[in-house]
Amino acid sequence: MISRQTIDEIRNRIDIVDVVSDFVSLKRSGQNYKALSPFTNEKTPSFYVVPSKGIFKDFSSGKGGDGITFVMEHEGMSYVEALKYLAKKYGVEIKEDARTPEDVAAQSERDSLYIVMNFAKDYYKNLLHKHEEGKSIGLSYFRERGFNDNILEKFELGYSLNEWHHIEEAAKKAGFSENILEKAGLIIRKDDKIYDRFRGRVIFPVHNLSGKVVAFGARILTKEKGLPAGRQDQPKYINSPETEIYHKSQVLYGLYQAKNEIRKYDFCYLVEGYTDVISLHLSGIEHVVASSGTALTEEQIRLMRRFTENVTVLFDGDSAGIKAALRGIDLVLKGGLNVRVVLLPDGEDPDSYSKKMGSTEFQQYLKSHTKDFISFKIDLLSADASRDLPAGRQDPIKKAEAIREIVTSISLIPDPIKRSVYIKETSDLLKIQEPVLLTELNKIIIQERKKREQERMRDDVHEPLPEFVEEVVQAGKTDPLAMVQMQERETIRLLLNYAESGVGDDQKVIDFLLEELEDVEFTNPVYREILDAFRKGVDTNTRIDNFYFLENGSDGVKRAVADLMTSRYETSPHWSEKFHIYFPHEKEVMHDVTMTNVLRLKFRLIQKMMEENLKEMKDVKDDATLDKHMAVHAQLKGSEKELAGILGIVVSKG
Ligand code: CTP
Ligand code: MN
Repeated sequence: MISRQTIDEIRNRIDIVDVVSDFVSLKRSGQNYKALSPFTNEKTPSFYVVPSKGIFKDFSSGKGGDGITFVMEHEGMSYVEALKYLAKKYGVEIKEDARTPEDVAAQSERDSLYIVMNFAKDYYKNLLHKHEEGKSIGLSYFRERGFNDNILEKFELGYSLNEWHHIEEAAKKAGFSENILEKAGLIIRKDDKIYDRFRGRVIFPVHNLSGKVVAFGARILTKEKGLPAGRQDQPKYINSPETEIYHKSQVLYGLYQAKNEIRKYDFCYLVEGYTDVISLHLSGIEHVVASSGTALTEEQIRLMRRFTENVTVLFDGDSAGIKAALRGIDLVLKGGLNVRVVLLPDGEDPDSYSKKMGSTEFQQYLKSHTKDFISFKIDLLSADASRDLPAGRQDPIKKAEAIREIVTSISLIPDPIKRSVYIKETSDLLKIQEPVLLTELNKIIIQERKKREQERMRDDVHEPLPEFVEEVVQAGKTDPLAMVQMQERETIRLLLNYAESGVGDDQKVIDFLLEELEDVEFTNPVYREILDAFRKGVDTNTRIDNFYFLENGSDGVKRAVADLMTSRYETSPHWSEKFHIYFPHEKEVMHDVTMTNVLRLKFRLIQKMMEENLKEMKDVKDDATLDKHMAVHAQLKGSEKELAGILGIVVSKG
């Protein structure tokens, strides 16, 4: 158990911005920070860090909490794991009791899996460096491939002996159960027999973002890339199975080693496998990750987007797989990443080519051969269309196909500005007029959106944002107009009671509110009348107070003003005497109260506009108008989200 004192010490040391920054690229926004949510695939940032409160809030997933919660959520750690991680980060010492078999059993399964994987990693590493077989076979293999000590250590490479029960026995001796070895995928059970999964192979540990080993890839030993005699039936790599701590589709090989460099360069090379990542490191390029032999998954894209939006994919020269790979890349475009491509010469992969060229030349090659994805695709497809034809001629059917394929790729890019840049480029390169391409593009986009958006919109409208559920319940209705008028009423209440109070920065409540609401017209006629009177008062330099309205106002105004003249948080003085509880008077929190009101009002207005827009859309018949309404909706939705984000910070829970 970790002592209370240690936990307090860790809590005191935590700097939320620092903790989050290890995983997310934060941008400053006033006193706070924001970023794209690391938990969802959003396009506009709604993830906030509030240093003054030591918390984060993610509006797209609803998650929020302190630094410990963040590490738990983000890394999928238990409370104890997160504390240990933070203790290590901040150099807080945790005294750990010696592990008895009971303790081992009592730890959560995840904890045990991390521990046994760490044990195995150290064990394989040790065999590589210390054991005769490890040195003569494993180490010499790595040496032949040019892996230096620095690389061996950075990637924690190892070797598994060519025996059936080696890791099994060593791990059991160290106190691990057969059960956990099996769950970790280190041993295999078959027909009541068990044996080591990895035998006679070099070991590539796979690290998660915080540097813990979650899986292994084990490569067969051959100097050539083919398989040795007698092992033809075996796969080149044997990988860990999916476990409680390893989900292949959510991990990028090399990201742990690359993350700082990726941030520094704001882009990342994407290669195929373990050895490609290491070859690039050997050539002095450390911002590289691998998808481990498959097309990128959505989760991997999300993972990458926490560090950069720019990816450069390295393709092997053999053109056979290129087209298939191209389609895989469409997913990356859809994920909102900017994709560039480097094609290596025919027959070369990053490993062979970097060796042939040497570091400097190889780096130079990458720089000078990086192509924007779209132009790469255009080149490829138009070359295809003119194959076997006289110079300057193209097969019209193939050309049309090529155009459609390129425009489809462009349609996947979420950012409309980027789309139009690519359309222009395509138009130049293919010598096709822009309007033709735009028509094609719009057709595809509208088809797609019609399908998806209509469902999504239905969900959007009826789903109140978490922070406001309470308010909605109180009001007893979710009618946007009613919600707008509730905030109008609150503005009036603030003006009537606190017009002359300060909101900080030497500004008065009345000046602040009138400035913020300059372009807002109240929907409720009574509140509108009152607001307009305040506006006129400021313009003519006359101070308007409650008595002005009680004397001069219409009946409706008189009633409303009388109603709103008491302050909301006023508590009986005898409460504080009796219970010695301090109640902040509303005046003391004026800044937050007015700010919240303004934002909520705007928030409600946006929702009202959204509703109107959706209503109008129901009767739309033509695509162009539909598109316009959809664009309006998207824009409003973005503002709504942004406001909700800010509101979550200003609104105090109390
Ligand atoms: N891979 C795998 N299982 C296999 C073959 C490949 O998991 N049977 C994955 C590995 O992650 C591998 C990547 O696909 O790193 C690329 O495969 P390949 O190019 O065949 O392997 P390399 O690691 O590049 O090995 P080498 O450089 O020795 O050819
Ligand atoms: Mn390879």
